[in-house]
Amino acid sequence: MGADARRPLIHFTPPSGWLNDPNGLVFAKGLYHLFYQHNPHSTSWGPMHWGHATSDDLISWTHRPIALAPDKHGLIFSGSAVIDSEDSAGFGSNTLVALFTYHALSGDSPECQGLAWSRDQGEEFTKLDAPILEAPPGITDFRDPTVFWFDGASSSKHISPSGNSPAGSHWIMLLAAGQAVEVYTSSDLRNWAHASTLRDAFADSGTWEMPELIRFEADDDVRWVLAVSLTEGAPHSGSGVQAVVGDFDGSVFVPTDPTFWVDFGPDYYAPQAWNSAPGGRRVWAGWAGNWRDVSPDPNAQWCGQMSIPRELSLIRTGGGLRLKQEPVAELTRYYMDSLVLAGAEISATIGVPLALKAPALDFDLELDSELSSEDAVIIEFRRADKAATLQLDLDRDEIVLTLDSNQIDRPTSPAAYRAPLGLTDGAGESIRVLLDTASIEVFAGASVITVKTPALADPWSVVIESLPSVGSTATLTLNSIGSPR
Ligand code: FRU
Repeated sequence: MGADARRPLIHFTPPSGWLNDPNGLVFAKGLYHLFYQHNPHSTSWGPMHWGHATSDDLISWTHRPIALAPDKHGLIFSGSAVIDSEDSAGFGSNTLVALFTYHALSGDSPECQGLAWSRDQGEEFTKLDAPILEAPPGITDFRDPTVFWFDGASSSKHISPSGNSPAGSHWIMLLAAGQAVEVYTSSDLRNWAHASTLRDAFADSGTWEMPELIRFEADDDVRWVLAVSLTEGAPHSGSGVQAVVGDFDGSVFVPTDPTFWVDFGPDYYAPQAWNSAPGGRRVWAGWAGNWRDVSPDPNAQWCGQMSIPRELSLIRTGGGLRLKQEPVAELTRYYMDSLVLAGAEISATIGVPLALKAPALDFDLELDSELSSEDAVIIEFRRADKAATLQLDLDRDEIVLTLDSNQIDRPTSPAAYRAPLGLTDGAGESIRVLLDTASIEVFAGASVITVKTPALADPWSVVIESLPSVGSTATLTLNSIGSPR
């Protein structure tokens, strides 16, 4: 079994070396750009570069030359890219401008922000000689700029949190600083003015990293979601992502709903949304990893993968407004064989592997009827001699993913991951599971569970272990996914 056969089919991995956060996600001239934290020299974290890949459908990626390499100011940590369509920065209209953190290996304030621009869609960058924003004195964590254009004309109808009215249009930069998010504004991407500081919205565990602020239209108004990655304290320990819905007026963000965890598995971190995505679509992807578990597979040339890009929307749950995340629809282009079962046909398969196996599968079970808490829904995903079991715990309104210890191969992790379903009564249940050579992603109710697994080329098979009688409109759809490579 060669290393290539174990590479994820539908999850981005670096050509060789190490990958962590997605960086500089931007859509331009028909292509989605994916820059990423990259050490090209080794499968362990090290001197950070920005790797680069492009895609026209978010699934099939073409590797591009490395975009940014460390220099005298330090390593190139995470950041954003924007298309400066009106030439606000003076590099020419439609220039791709990257803003990133320089991380120096010594000094009292090791982090500051740098800027680089590209006139050829990210093939070659020119860096500004000097950093554009230094850390305030004594601040050691000051990183991960998320940058986007704020259009004052389309802000929310709510009362402006800062009392400013009307909000102007300008560039926004959010930075993570310890356990705070700092908001800056600019008219030219080079000179930045401090606008506000947000504390308290997220857990006081670890260091906050990779802030992300995304605009939504919901309930006939504009709502914003602020997400932050935390190095510690996630539901199953280690690093994870929290988010909260609120109002934003171009300078101040004020939460309006309860804070929630974005993913209940151990391996979703540092998500970023694509700037200027077509049709205003909101799509993000995260590093399918956890800072607590970064040891490379000694037999692989690569370490680190992205989550599947996820289309975002807002849904109302018992716990307030939440993000709903779904794999992007472009994935269906890579379906190969499919199996569709309806009603009693599904129950007839109980205990027997479904007649479709492949190294990458997209499993979808739509249950129409309202299940009662006595009903047991148990689905097993098997590969080689290993299994992952998914169970709906309707009594606790939870979904539980349990992994054989040899499947997860991670002695420090719990074997079971629980996530609230959070569904409104009578909504029916929908369970979607993406299986690839090195990950499992479960989408159920308002929750997601992302787990990376050891990379294996063996085909997955699916067994419905238990299911109450379902109505005639219940459907099970299983698609095998071919390699876009
Ligand atoms: C998040 C992070 C960022 C930093 C980068 C370094 O995973 O720690 O805060 O910019 O990774 O690789």
